[in-house]
Amino acid sequence: MSNGDVNQGRRRFLIGATSVVGGVGVVGAAVPFVASWEPSAKAEAAGAPVKFNISKIEEGQQATVAWRGKPVWVVRRSDAMLANIKKMNDRVADPESKNPQQPPYITGIYRSIKPHISVLVGICTHLGCVPNYRPEVHPDDLKGLDWVGGYYCPCHGSKYDLAGRVWINQPAPLNLEVPPYHFVGEDTIVVGVDPEKA
Ligand code: FES
Repeated sequence: MSNGDVNQGRRRFLIGATSVVGGVGVVGAAVPFVASWEPSAKAEAAGAPVKFNISKIEEGQQATVAWRGKPVWVVRRSDAMLANIKKMNDRVADPESKNPQQPPYITGIYRSIKPHISVLVGICTHLGCVPNYRPEVHPDDLKGLDWVGGYYCPCHGSKYDLAGRVWINQPAPLNLEVPPYHFVGEDTIVVGVDPEKA
């Protein structure tokens, strides 16, 4: 895979803007989140924080928000998904996220402020492709991997669990990045600002 192909993958995201995909029982659902955008496209591109209403994300669904030109994924994880993350502890390279791939207030195996809401930068830590969200358990096309939900990078096959923790022995060296973010009330997150600075 050439770098040109990798950049192509990122470009495809940039054209796509905001979307919701996947989820148990809601495969392919498309929920418009355009109304959630706060800053202008110009301000967002310059790195302004992005406010995002998460109330319409159903259990198992993933929404994508653009922040600093990158996709940021927000998933409402179910209890079963959290249990499956736990099962992956001995199959991932950095289970406790000792590498600083997240702000210091994000600790523990779920890598999020609230266990049921994950917020991850959707850029593979290998060469920057956008991995696919694969929340299913033991899907046919990933047979033999004992797949219990996670992210699969289409470029060179790196695999991550549903907390963005990279599996052992992958091309990708690090867990997916967690951006700075905080909650405003129950249903709104602001990506790009730490809680203490809010
Ligand atoms: S970019 Fe190479 S595995 Fe993701």
